[in-house]
Amino acid sequence: MSVQTEKQQVKRRVHHFAKLKQRGEKITVVTAYDYPTALAAEGSGADMVLVGDSLGMVALGMDSTIPVTMDIMVHHTSAVRRAVKKAFLVADMPFLSYHVNRELTLANAGRLVQEAGAEAIKLEGGREVVDAVRAITGAGIPVMGHVGLMPQSVHKLGGYRVQGRDESSAAELISDALAIQEAGAFALVVEAMDPEIAAQITTQLEIPTIGIGAGRRCDGQVLVLTDLVGMIPGSSPKFVKQYAQVGNTMKTAIEQYCGEVRAGQFPEEKHEY
Ligand code: KIV
Repeated sequence: MSVQTEKQQVKRRVHHFAKLKQRGEKITVVTAYDYPTALAAEGSGADMVLVGDSLGMVALGMDSTIPVTMDIMVHHTSAVRRAVKKAFLVADMPFLSYHVNRELTLANAGRLVQEAGAEAIKLEGGREVVDAVRAITGAGIPVMGHVGLMPQSVHKLGGYRVQGRDESSAAELISDALAIQEAGAFALVVEAMDPEIAAQITTQLEIPTIGIGAGRRCDGQVLVLTDLVGMIPGSSPKFVKQYAQVGNTMKTAIEQYCGEVRAGQFPEEKHEY
């Protein structure tokens, strides 16, 4: 089977990801934020669709992911749910939605599953969030962890910087990854870190690692959909590969439409009822 046609044929469920890791098959993850982007993600055959809180920045024009609320996540996840059938659907827990207390953490995770239709949630953090991971998995909701560069902690990290560059921070990252696995997560996003550290984490964990800016030796990869299709003009981070320039294609099409309307060339008779 060619790489192009190696799409997932069966509905992806939580237990498939450990199996893919055991078999050495790479896991494909892409974000989606609304019905059309979710249709594209689902149609691509990606294994997992993530409604990332990156939506605050790439779909809503915010400066960071910090202003994203539970209501926003529920609204967007519901739209994505309507398009995603075979891929496994994961939604991000937004800033401070899993830190206040156990009750609020469970209520918020529950909303993403019950109201919005997510099959799992993702949350950022290491040893400091193991209680949240235990509580959520204890309620029957699969959890994907996220260590390394954690955009919700941008102020604490001092910017969007590569993590694990010195020996002690690398050791911290490995301890965090092991703690999240131990707490019951089924997979772990490793973002913007030294590829050697990501590889060590990948070897030490039984659960799969999903890398973004973390090198080639992760069990899977995730990219923000608007980055990979080139939807937003401007420079993208080093780890992004742009497979299309959709933003330019859209702008050119709209320019053409405006030109034709101004010139009286659209609509034509065939567009009339
Ligand atoms: O919010 C997001 O889209 C993410 C991915 C980049 C992993 O967390």
